[in-house]
Amino acid sequence: MRTQVGIVGAGPAGLVLARLLQRAGIDTVILERRSRSYVESRVRAGVLEHGTAQLLDQLGVGQRMRREGMVHRGIELRFGGESHRIDLEALTGKTITVYGQQEVVKDLIAARLADDLPLHFEAEVTAVDGTVLEYEQNGVRHRLECDFVAGCDGSHGVARLAVPDGALRTAEREHPYAWLGILARSPAAAEELVYAYHERGFALHSMRTPDIIRLYLQVPRDTDLGDWPDTRIWDELRTRLDLPLKEGEILERGITGMRSFAVEPMRHDRLFLAGDAAHIVPPTGAKGMNLAIADVRVLAEALTAHYRERTDELLDSYSRTCLKRVWQVQRFSNWMTTMLHRHEGDDEFGHRVQLAELEYVTGSTAAATTLAENYVGLPR
Ligand code: FAD
Ligand code: DHB
Repeated sequence: MRTQVGIVGAGPAGLVLARLLQRAGIDTVILERRSRSYVESRVRAGVLEHGTAQLLDQLGVGQRMRREGMVHRGIELRFGGESHRIDLEALTGKTITVYGQQEVVKDLIAARLADDLPLHFEAEVTAVDGTVLEYEQNGVRHRLECDFVAGCDGSHGVARLAVPDGALRTAEREHPYAWLGILARSPAAAEELVYAYHERGFALHSMRTPDIIRLYLQVPRDTDLGDWPDTRIWDELRTRLDLPLKEGEILERGITGMRSFAVEPMRHDRLFLAGDAAHIVPPTGAKGMNLAIADVRVLAEALTAHYRERTDELLDSYSRTCLKRVWQVQRFSNWMTTMLHRHEGDDEFGHRVQLAELEYVTGSTAAATTLAENYVGLPR
């Protein structure tokens, strides 16, 4: 089998890339190691930047997002027993859309299959050999020959590992805490997202629909879910968020470690890395999925120029262009994380500086604007 661009992974990066290339008349094959139902039910991010929501519209996959997603004009920061609103729309003229990552993925998969274009599930890429992808499906081995390979296979994928030792530089930082996240059948307890800094640790109130909420608690990195029965989770959320949460059925729960990671360059020869395959940000800024989609917009433009105009300038600058945004997003995600989490061993001084930072961010229009313009998404 042969194609122009072989895409490893059907997450937001791989699926958006395929859709962008389809519009440019470029052939793609997507290989995804998991089943369709698995990728469609994997609970992850929930905030779409202004530009991400616009792009989904432009790609013709925004109808359900516009019907079921929730446009939010602000977010709340809570600390010191008070709540402060950051008015995203007043500060930037832009809004965010709260719509689950798995819903975005479902819409993109439905569109791809409706157009009868190749997307293979349970097709695990086992080796990336130059521009040849070897994969296994139903116990049968296959080869896909490509002009280019897009490694959109997430942080545990194979594409990055195919780059020879020494060709990539890695910058990373482990954070000493994790998030315990739940999805619960319970009405939203606030109209907007609430980010809380509490002396017991960070907590976040988000939502998926008016009746399904997504909540997170800062916990130590080695936390065992077994130590967190439902009542403990709800009590801790109520204490930290200070919201009138109604205990509902917990539909999903998990612990996510927090890591900052970026490789450079995001290219090796004809292999291009995009999304989590190239970088991870801690989730506090709600940036992971948005950044993955920002990468593939750059990649799609570069591949389009290659095929249409026979110029490789944009392919050659792909990594440099993406990394500018990647490091802005790393900076913002780390700043939000440091500002909103309790740091083990921190003393009174550290705690007071954090409170002062939060007071400054919510009290100064200049400071609130820097948060807002990053949160809604920096311009391309
Ligand atoms: P992915 O979504 O990871 O997609 C990669 C795909 O490649 C997967 O479907 C995988 O199955 C497939 N794949 C891997 N290896 C192979 C192979 N060998 N062959 C074929 N296919 C392969 N971000 C936020 O902003 N907020 C959050 O709350 C948040 N929560 C998260 C929770 C978890 C548990 C994780 C892992 C991430 C979370 N993120 C969050 C980050 C966000 O979800 C990611 O940044 C986003 O999914 C990146 O998209 P992607 O397409 O690059 O990678
Ligand atoms: C959600 C996740 C985040 O990481 C965040 O910062 C805001 C919202 C969510 O899952 O809804």
